[in-house]
Amino acid sequence: MRTLIIYTSVHHGNTGKVAQAMAGALGADMVDAAGAEPGLIDHYDLIGFGSGIYHGRHHQTLFRFVEMLPAVDGTLAFVFSTSGRGVAQDHTALKQVLEAKGFWIVGDFVCKGWDTYTVLGLVGGINKGRPDARDLAHAAAFADDLARHWGDAGR
Ligand SMILES: Cc1cc2nc3c(=O)[nH]c(=O)nc-3n(C[C@H](O)[C@H](O)[C@H](O)COP(=O)(O)O)c2cc1C
Repeated sequence: MRTLIIYTSVHHGNTGKVAQAMAGALGADMVDAAGAEPGLIDHYDLIGFGSGIYHGRHHQTLFRFVEMLPAVDGTLAFVFSTSGRGVAQDHTALKQVLEAKGFWIVGDFVCKGWDTYTVLGLVGGINKGRPDARDLAHAAAFADDLARHWGDAGR
């Protein structure tokens, strides 16, 4: 199964670490959403979209990229994030845009990430050290599960 991970990771590189762990497990290609070519997605069966959460939703760079994508017909996709809170409801807006494009969302992964936004930064932030080795192992296991479940879909 040809897999691509498209990500944005601008605060502390937290989401980039998770994307890397998933890409390792899936044998996936990885591309930063900033400057990525929308036509790239034609070559893949499963596409992961992830970033940190900014004011309750994925980073605007990722949204801008997704908005440029052509419509697809049920291409498999998953959504992931790192954030201060680490909750899946922050994925709703991105999932709605992806579904409107024709993607079929087959998984979500959330992870806490080091966050030094606002006054939190004065005290070293929250979730320092996250994602840690355990988080990255969870990310790899999530990706393994996806490959096991959907591995035949693109063949
Ligand atoms: C401007 C800004 C806004 C943020 N807003 C939220 C938020 O609404 N909810 C949350 O849980 N975390 C929030 N965070 C924390 C980030 O989501 C978290 O640090 C994330 O791991 C950053 O990922 P990155 O290093 O891959 O960019 C915010 C951080 C910044 C800098």
